[in-house]
Amino acid sequence: MSIALAFDIYGTLIDPHGVVDELARHVGERAQEFSGIWRDKQLEYTFRRGLMGRYENFVVCTRQALDYTDSLLQTGLDESAKTALMQVYRMLPAYADVPASLQALADDGLRMFAFSNGVADAVSGLLEHARINQYFEGVVSVDTLKTFKPDPEVYRHFIDVAATDAQNCWLVSSNGFDVIGAVSAGMKAAWLQRSEAVVFDPWDIDATLVVNSLSELPAKINI
Ligand code: 2OP
Repeated sequence: MSIALAFDIYGTLIDPHGVVDELARHVGERAQEFSGIWRDKQLEYTFRRGLMGRYENFVVCTRQALDYTDSLLQTGLDESAKTALMQVYRMLPAYADVPASLQALADDGLRMFAFSNGVADAVSGLLEHARINQYFEGVVSVDTLKTFKPDPEVYRHFIDVAATDAQNCWLVSSNGFDVIGAVSAGMKAAWLQRSEAVVFDPWDIDATLVVNSLSELPAKINI
């Protein structure tokens, strides 16, 4: 049975810190710091909303995390600046290793899906903007279930959509919590360690495979 790859989007294929140039126009030299807090808070909001059963979609989590970060850092963003930043979030860039790696995986005949906390139209827009949408059989969004990664239900949903056995389903993600969630739900998972500074959670639930670049995947994923 053919292998189905579930690609995480934000942080794996698409760079959430691609908003830094626009941030620099509004907050100057605090742009990197702002971007880091914004991303961390966005994810925290998904975890908390998932646990509480108080779902609001990823756009809402992102906007509320933006408001929080602005208040925390006292950067005084006005509504037009926030609107501009949210617009840029819909056009974030792909990482440099993405297009050639997806092409190589497609050449190997692997089925590929986008699998994200993001809402489907935003994810589709990012893939189109990055000119990589042609590689994907579909977009699988947690929005269908109204919960977030790493709720086991979202990985089961992916396996259902891929219509194959869990052991034929690979998550590819730079997000450790996502990798642990997928393995815990019975999938295989490749952890993309994009920086040596990033540490994997010591939970005794390991990634099936660790790569430092997506370009390593085509040679390793058929194991
Ligand atoms: C995604 O689901 C976790 O942000 C990550 O795209």
